[in-house]
Order: sequence, then structure tokens, then C-alpha cells
Amino acid sequence: MLTADTVHDGALLQVHDFRSYFDTPAGIVKAVDGVSFTLDRGDTLGIVGESGSGKTVLARSVMGLLTGKNVMRSGSARYNGIELVGASEKELRDLWGTEMAMVFQDPMTSLNPVLKTGRQITEGLRYHLQLSKSEARAQALQLLDSVGIPDPKRRISQYPHELSGGMRQRVTIAIALACGPKLLLADEPTTALDVTVQAQILDLLHQQQVERHMAMVLVTHDLGVVAGRTNHIAVMYAGQIVEYAPTTDLFANVRMPYTQALLHSIPKLAQPSHTRLQAIAGRPPDLINPPSGCRFAPRCPYVQPKCNSEMPPLQESETPGHLYRCWFPVGTEAGREALAHNTAAGMPAAVSITQILADPPGGTH
Ligand SMILES: Nc1ncnc2c1ncn2[C@@H]1O[C@H](COP(=O)(O)OP(=O)(O)OP(=O)(O)O)[C@@H](O)[C@H]1O
Ligand SMILES: [Mg+2]
Repeated sequence: MLTADTVHDGALLQVHDFRSYFDTPAGIVKAVDGVSFTLDRGDTLGIVGESGSGKTVLARSVMGLLTGKNVMRSGSARYNGIELVGASEKELRDLWGTEMAMVFQDPMTSLNPVLKTGRQITEGLRYHLQLSKSEARAQALQLLDSVGIPDPKRRISQYPHELSGGMRQRVTIAIALACGPKLLLADEPTTALDVTVQAQILDLLHQQQVERHMAMVLVTHDLGVVAGRTNHIAVMYAGQIVEYAPTTDLFANVRMPYTQALLHSIPKLAQPSHTRLQAIAGRPPDLINPPSGCRFAPRCPYVQPKCNSEMPPLQESETPGHLYRCWFPVGTEAGREALAHNTAAGMPAAVSITQILADPPGGTH
């Protein structure tokens, strides 16, 4: 059986059966529980899922950024052939910045408030690339210009609090790009920003990714954000990948009921303000004692007894490279029958889906 981590030559990041657990007083939290995927050079992967599905833990943990005595990692994450699970801090530090870089949700927490923007960019250039002070300054000005900051000569000597939220995020992107990483990990890079600035930042990331032929992992809880900006999408639910496909195929042939539910929760530009959107009823499962069958079963409109007892494997659909974890997939005979059966039994999909007030149209969260 093919899996999401099927080996091929262009692979830059290869993650196999990766787990990241937290040992807590309440028990072991299985935040990431057996995830596999491959990211090719120059490709963009969107990781999508509700809050708490494990997106951030996966992204940070793969890069070795989650440390602490209570963190347990297992499986494999190979960057350019180098195993990251179990790598020393020194080995990881040599990769951060130069090979792999990250952009976080809130630019205020990733920027140092007491250092001028220029210094924050030049530090990495001087440390990793051993540039002289003046070379690093020239490079920093160029970087600020390339991320769309007007008047870089003035901005370079300002502090983060003197910049707008969008500008600050542009600065963190400049810092991340400074040493020419081959992999950029962006975790909800626009969630903290004004709606009008969100698209600009996403477009900037996309443009830089193409120009620099970087691979990018874009983490978001909004399928609308990754729709036009990724080659592949991995949908996460309760610590697992439940659907993985080339982006166009995911939207054309969605198989996993959870993905379908996420799709129904995207605000449409055409919808008037305050349109009621469908949200997925119920809560994600407890990650200390997740259900033994399909983890989405308790909330799924397609659910059948088998779903509660047997965990579906991540299997390939009839379209190449499209994997999903479901016994009664959307758009198949088995799925249609399951849904019809549940509807006849008085458990229609509409009942399992509640409605909430929408974000402003075009919003990304
Ligand atoms: N240090 C920790 N100790 C214990 N549990 C943790 C820790 N960090 C994260 N978790 C748990 O791991 C799970 C996954 O969290 P994660 O932050 O990856 O979710 P997410 O998909 O990024 O959500 P969001 O969209 O809100 O950012 C959550 O249940 C969270 O409570
Ligand atoms: Mg997160």
C-alpha cells in the first residue's frame, strides 16, 4: 500500500510514523500520533485542522523546536537525509535559519522588543554566514525591500513597537529568509493580523517561496487560505492525518467527512456579512484516551458501527497520491449508503451540524 511518505528523489523532508506525546499529570497527551508525509523541494504543503488537532506540535516538533522533559518524540523526520528525531541541539542549531526557518503566528512574540529591526536581521547573517557588519546591513536593507517594507533605511533603525502588525510580520519573514533556508514553516502566519493585511502576507510568502524555490509548510485552520497557495494539503484531526492529497484533487474529490465539514465552514466572498456558517458540532476527542476506532466517528454524519471499533487506515483513493482515513468515504457508494441509512434512522447530517455566526466574509478564520 502506498502511504503519504512514499519515497521519491525530490524529497526534502520525509516524516514517517512520527509521534509527539506529552507526559502530563493527567496522563499521556498523544498530540501527534503516527503522522507520515513527504515534502518535495520547492513544494508547498498546507496543514489544516481545527484548533487542538496537533498542527503546531507537529510543525515545531519535527523541527526539534519542542523541547522539555515531558516531550516524547518517536518515529522519523528526515531533512535532506538527516534524521532530526534524536539529533543533538548543536546539530539542530546548524540547520535552523540556514536550512529550515519558521514564521510564527504572532510577530510580537517572535521579535525582540528591545532590539532594532536591523539588528534582528543582521544577527543571523553575521552568525551563520559570517558577514561583516556593513555586508550584513546591506543585505538586511535588501531583505526588507524584498518583503515589501517601504523606506527600509528608516525602518531598519526602528523598534518592533514602531511598526504596524503587518510590517512586523514582514520583518519576521525577512529574518526567516535571511540565510536562504530551503524549508520555511509558517504556522498561522496571518491569524494575528487585520483581515486586509492577511492576503498580502500570504501572497508575499507565496511569492518568496516561488522565487527562492523553497519548500513551505503552511499551517492554518482555514482550508480557504491554503486553496490557491499549496501543492498538497494534509488534513489533521486529533493528532493524525485523515486526508492527504494534491490540492486540486482534495477540493474536487473530497473523501473524508471531516474535510467536507471543514469545507462547509469556509466563509464565501459572495456571502453577505453575518451569514451563518456551518460549524462542526461536538468537540475533538480527548487526546489522552482517544477513541479506538475512527477518531472522528463521534461527530461524523456517516458513522456506522464499524467506525467505532476499527480505526481506518490511511489508504489511497482511485486518484494517485490521494489518501484518506475513512470506511464510508464521501462521494462513494459506501458513503452514500451510510449517509442514507443514518438519515432514515433520524440522524441526518443537518442535525449533526450546528450553525455559528460567520467571520466577516473573506476572513481567514
Ligand atoms: N506542552 C504541552 N503539554 C501538554 N499538552 C500539550 C502541550 N502543547 C500542546 N498540547 C496539546 O496538544 C494538542 C495539539 O495542540 P496544537 O497546539 O498542536 O494544536 P493546533 O492544531 O496547533 O491548534 P491551534 O489551531 O489552536 O493552533 C492540544 O490538545 C494541546 O492541548
Ligand atoms: Mg497551532
